[in-house]
Amino acid sequence: MLDLDMLSPSLARFVDEQLITEVLHPIKSGKEATVYCCRAHPHTGAEYYAAKVYRPIERRGFKNDAVYQEHRFELDKRLARAFAQKSRAGRAAQFGSWVWHEWQTMSRLHAAGAAVPRPVTHEGDTILMELVGDGPTPAPLLRRVRLAPQEVTPLLDAILATIELLLAHDVIHADLSPFNILYHDGRLVVIDFPQAVQATRNSNAYDLLRRDLGNVCHYWSRYGPVPDPDALAGELWARFLAADL
Ligand SMILES: Nc1ncnc2c1ncn2[C@@H]1O[C@H](COP(=O)(O)OP(=O)(O)OP(=O)(O)O)[C@@H](O)[C@H]1O
Ligand SMILES: [Mg+2]
Repeated sequence: MLDLDMLSPSLARFVDEQLITEVLHPIKSGKEATVYCCRAHPHTGAEYYAAKVYRPIERRGFKNDAVYQEHRFELDKRLARAFAQKSRAGRAAQFGSWVWHEWQTMSRLHAAGAAVPRPVTHEGDTILMELVGDGPTPAPLLRRVRLAPQEVTPLLDAILATIELLLAHDVIHADLSPFNILYHDGRLVVIDFPQAVQATRNSNAYDLLRRDLGNVCHYWSRYGPVPDPDALAGELWARFLAADL
């Protein structure tokens, strides 16, 4: 059992709240966060959960990309100013904002039926969610998977349908690639939402959508001909603007 207070006080809270009984091991340490495999408390009905613990700000690449932050703070002008000035308060606000934004986005999308891990709760620097995989073994990233010939077209259609469903809920992932798609039991599950943007509010929305579609089509091009991502983006965007999604 790992020392929870060393990792994050939020994990200790999850133990107190009887959501998990222990933190078993790290699944992966990424740029922004470390994801841990946790044993779920028997009350929950689940066996394992994934806990995504964001890094303390000082040890994180400060994702300062205004592209993703547009309109994020418009409800709190004071926070927006602090954030713009990169003051300590601003950095703290931003830290909370990534966790909160990822939680909100995943919750909305899961409720809408999108193929994302089921979010369980969030606390401080951590999001607790469904562990996608077999028992404690996490599903592989799509980039590590070689699809069987009969899966190629159905799974491309599935991921395009997911992008469309997100857009219908005003969301563009904005970092979609085979690095943020899990392959499990013949299905694709999209993860990693802190940078997701609101399609109606972000002035770069169309370019971010094109980039997501470009990454997806590029991955599928190893299996054969793919649709033109720019044409797909244009068509999807036109339907989005016409409120036809
Ligand atoms: N719900 C989950 N179930 C199983 N594995 C997961 C889950 N969430 C995340 N992972 C694993 O943890 C890794 C990191 O998660 P995520 O992409 O959300 O964080 P990140 O800090 O942005 O990482 P990276 O910098 O690698 O993109 C993923 O690549 C995936 O292997
Ligand atoms: Mg990731």
